[in-house]
Amino acid sequence: VVYDEACGRRPRLLVVANRLPVSAKRTGENSWSLEMSPGGLVSGLLGVTAQFDTKWVGWPGVDVYDEVEKRALSKSLAEMKCIPVFLEEVFDQYYNGYCNGILWPILHHMGLPQEDHHLDTNKTFQTQYDAYKKANRLFLDVIIKNYEEGDIVWCHDYHLMFLPQYLKEYNSKIKVGWFLHSPFPSSEVYKTLPSRSELLRSVLRADLLGFHTYDFARHFVSTCTRILGVEGTHEGVVDQGRVTRVAVFPIGIDPDRFIRACELPEVKQQMNELKERFAGKKVILGVDRLDMIKGIPQKFLGFEKFLEENPNWRDKVVLVQIAVPTRNGVPEYRKVKTQVHGLVGRINGRFGSVSSLPIHHMDRSVDFNYLCALYAIADVMLVTSLRDGMNLVSYEFVACQEVKKGVLVLSEFAGAGQSLGAGALLVNPWNVTEVSSAIKEALNMPAEEREKRHRVNFQYVKTHSAKKWGDDFMSELNEICAESEIQIRK
Ligand code: ADP
Ligand code: F6P
Repeated sequence: VVYDEACGRRPRLLVVANRLPVSAKRTGENSWSLEMSPGGLVSGLLGVTAQFDTKWVGWPGVDVYDEVEKRALSKSLAEMKCIPVFLEEVFDQYYNGYCNGILWPILHHMGLPQEDHHLDTNKTFQTQYDAYKKANRLFLDVIIKNYEEGDIVWCHDYHLMFLPQYLKEYNSKIKVGWFLHSPFPSSEVYKTLPSRSELLRSVLRADLLGFHTYDFARHFVSTCTRILGVEGTHEGVVDQGRVTRVAVFPIGIDPDRFIRACELPEVKQQMNELKERFAGKKVILGVDRLDMIKGIPQKFLGFEKFLEENPNWRDKVVLVQIAVPTRNGVPEYRKVKTQVHGLVGRINGRFGSVSSLPIHHMDRSVDFNYLCALYAIADVMLVTSLRDGMNLVSYEFVACQEVKKGVLVLSEFAGAGQSLGAGALLVNPWNVTEVSSAIKEALNMPAEEREKRHRVNFQYVKTHSAKKWGDDFMSELNEICAESEIQIRK
């Protein structure tokens, strides 16, 4: 049981994440359109929140400076149960700078950046770090304005590592959970971060810390023991007698949403059109944010090698890559976009003809129904993340493959490698030959084996849903808070 039913109402949950589930776009003076935000965090949480009286607190996706405009946008967002945090001038240094220029690469084992623009005096580590703390304070202010006694505050991701401390300083009784949607690296990588101790000390103030995989949780605990000198136990981290529970909660999707979509006449129609478009060819699919951690260049190199070594396949296979642009304010992201475009040009130039191109690359987001149609008609899904928290795209593919039973080729460095590894073909994306061989094996796999592998993964995706993830996390958080109340009363 997740909560006290005696109170007769659903418990209130404040989900606090950098990004709201909808992003605003200005359509005119004081008018806005709201679109679903891309990314795994939003997709995962959408399957969870129905059981709670949930409000979202987060950045609305636009800069708004005018007070009248802020009120108008807040009103539209309130209808979606969303409360905006306006980050204004702090946004660039906080989001593009500290979150995505510093923390994101560290958490994904890529080390601290050494490019020229990091030597710019306005973008020094200290300036970005100060902006990060200020942004976390702005989130706190909005939470305080909306907090009611008994609310659960669930903080998400690396953008908000100071919130647990700030919340507990404001009111030590608030129930605080923090979940990391990205990997947590080895202490050898993390310890290069100049602010390493303050961030760890802050998240340790939460009542429960969650990670996608056992390895990420283990890295976190050993990092705390090595950097802070605290004790690591099977329960979590112990600092001067106080235990912070650290546990593993692998996120999932809402599988039925995808299964249902594949049954819709509109989606079936889209599937038929796609099948006609690619008639006589096998379709390999890639769906990623255009992020260096997704290993899109490595995916293309593997595909190029496959075409090189298997001339008989050249006219019989196509790689459809949908890559939604992301974090354009961060120079490294602009660089990866240029690299990807260069490779598409090279490979299509080498192996294409007037009538056929081996790679169909689109820098854009596609709508939900069309995405499901693509997942359903694909013969192979190619996920080559260099590091990835979970990678929900692989779950979504499996959910849409009940008819086709296509093959998932999956990076061993994605969290999903641990949950879907039994049914997928696991690859090291840095090993071009291995990726090329896996493509070949997937395309040639006999129906019986595809069926067997799909069955294992489908079963996993069905049972390890986002709802289960949320229930498990909340149930554990509630238990911990109930135990600590008993301790206090004693
Ligand atoms: P991340 O959290 O790093 O973005 P995930 O694979 O966990 O990675 O989640 C990505 C989410 O964003 C999925 O729900 C996927 O459907 C969605 N998504 C990714 N790329 C696109 C795209 N080009 N068009 C539409 N949705 C996309
Ligand atoms: O999965 C990591 C993550 O940062 C999520 O928090 C988010 O859903 C996704 O990547 C997209 O990132 P952003 O919100 O920066 O566009």
